[in-house]
Amino acid sequence: MRVLGIETSCDETSAAVLEGTGDDVAMKSLVILSQDVHRIFGGVVPEIASRAHLTAIAPVVERALADAGVGDVDAVAATNAPGLVGALLVGVSYAKAFAFARGVPVLGVHHMEGHLFATALEHADAVPPFTALLVSGGHTLLLDVEAWGRYRLLGRTRDDAAGEAFDKVAKLLGLPYPGGPHVERLAAAHESGEYRFARPMLRRNQTPADPDYYDVSFSGLKTAALNAVKSATAESRLDADRGAIARAFQDSLIETLVEKTGRAARQFDRGRIVLGGGVAGNATLVEAMRARFGPRGVQIFAPSARLATDNAAMIARAGLFHLERGEFSALDLNAFAAQPIPGLVAA
Ligand code: KG4
Ligand code: ZN
Repeated sequence: MRVLGIETSCDETSAAVLEGTGDDVAMKSLVILSQDVHRIFGGVVPEIASRAHLTAIAPVVERALADAGVGDVDAVAATNAPGLVGALLVGVSYAKAFAFARGVPVLGVHHMEGHLFATALEHADAVPPFTALLVSGGHTLLLDVEAWGRYRLLGRTRDDAAGEAFDKVAKLLGLPYPGGPHVERLAAAHESGEYRFARPMLRRNQTPADPDYYDVSFSGLKTAALNAVKSATAESRLDADRGAIARAFQDSLIETLVEKTGRAARQFDRGRIVLGGGVAGNATLVEAMRARFGPRGVQIFAPSARLATDNAAMIARAGLFHLERGEFSALDLNAFAAQPIPGLVAA
């Protein structure tokens, strides 16, 4: 089956063509157009994002089809939730018109289920069963994945998403948007120890029966970084301490994520951990996971930076899974700002 994927949930206009069956899928093309305009505002401006998607969507899809060297596809899959509704609507409307004009089925895909499939495009072994940590700009989900389409939600953030925390701390430190890669680069050039922030929601005596055993929270960590920035500014040390603060923030966030992911892998006895979402592009996080669980024989899979951030290949990949099971949407498919990931099984 050959599937066209479309992703417009935030500030990337993306289209991709995938071909294959089951877990044997080849990426024929992937086009990602990032909307640089939001850098001026230090964050994504929804109305501007929608307009930019509208300008870009037709040429981006045409380029993806041309790069794949194909005229026809068997189906089209588009992100329809969660995300910015106006932005999602552009991709959903285009996908429906495309499907109607060509007489092929259309399918709405959940953005986070897309992130779950991204790593499998590059690593044949990044398939269930595994423990999944999805860390993006809007979501932080810890899942046990016993099979594609069967997800046990173990933990989530109670406030800011991991990527959002990176972006906010970057802003405090005077770094450009999106801040994750800038914080990582700055942190990498500094030793830990000058500053230390408490590990959020992490206590050694937590048990699986505790409601915060798997959940995370990053707003307190953000406040700790804010206080450090304020003191450093008051003492005219911010330029000297910027890197040390970035390092302390990242150390704390990573240790929490590593520990909670390890708990999930242990409880369900999984030998594989799959990372997804923009923050999975953080090499320090991936290395910390490898250092911690590699010696115990647990394999860590993370997508390349290109597939970690928002892209249509992961949407086509998740779409292909559902389409092969005979699932598709009607032409009244709509976009939703929030929606639980499909396939949740009781915890
Ligand atoms: O998954 P994604 O592309 O978009 C959403 O679905 O939200 O994730 C974007 C987020 C941003 O918050 C960005 O700062 C973060 O991923 N990010 C990183 C890194 N690269 C991107 N965070 C930490 N370290 C990175 N290297
Ligand atoms: Zn995303």
